[in-house]
Amino acid sequence: MARGYKGRDTYSQQAHDDGYAARSVYKLSAIDKRVRIFRQGQRVVDLGCFPGSWSRYALEHIGPSGTLVGLDLEVPRLSGGIFFARSVYEVQASELIALLGGPADVLLSDMAQKTMGDRHVDHYAQIALARTALGLAAQVLRPGGSFVCKVFEGEESSDFQKEAQEIFKKVRRMRPDAVRKQSREWFLVAEDRREVEALADGEGP
Ligand SMILES: C[S@@+](CC[C@H](N)C(=O)[O-])C[C@H]1O[C@@H](n2cnc3c(N)ncnc32)[C@H](O)[C@@H]1O
Repeated sequence: MARGYKGRDTYSQQAHDDGYAARSVYKLSAIDKRVRIFRQGQRVVDLGCFPGSWSRYALEHIGPSGTLVGLDLEVPRLSGGIFFARSVYEVQASELIALLGGPADVLLSDMAQKTMGDRHVDHYAQIALARTALGLAAQVLRPGGSFVCKVFEGEESSDFQKEAQEIFKKVRRMRPDAVRKQSREWFLVAEDRREVEALADGEGP
């Protein structure tokens, strides 16, 4: 019998059958089905890319003419992308742009630290990762670009959403079916990064 989170659920089984490294791929695929994030030839950054299911999904959808740069504390065993091991707190936007060969079309963040079981502690640690991803998205994405980011719900979530609205024209929350029922996780899906001049002028949403 399969081991795992109180037994293997349908999504874990499906990921195994489809050859993906993690069930979380069905969160990204559900978001992509609704919003159509990916296109052939895009430049994509995947923060928190290990073990590689989001990266693999993105690579399949951007095709051989696209470029994907993935960062995590560990490197996934996956070919086709440029992967490196580093904490997100130690990467510069300019490094990501140089590796991509230009500004990104899409920035993904599924980053989460190992949880402690304390809702507040876990929320504050995770929202720090999400804010770092948002800061990089603001610097790395081209105008019109998209951002998908994991968030653990908590005190800072609404402020985080407002911060994203200053950078993107369209921001929404999504909770794909593959998110476990007991989880406080949701995804910020932000489209159409504003022009840099609009940000400098302080144009509101
Ligand atoms: C839910 S997993 C990502 C799963 C991945 N999206 C996939 O589909 O295979 C969260 C990842 O965030 C990474 N992470 C946590 N803190 C990080 C940090 N400071 N810098 C980079 N990655 C980090 C973890 O190592 C972990 O691999």
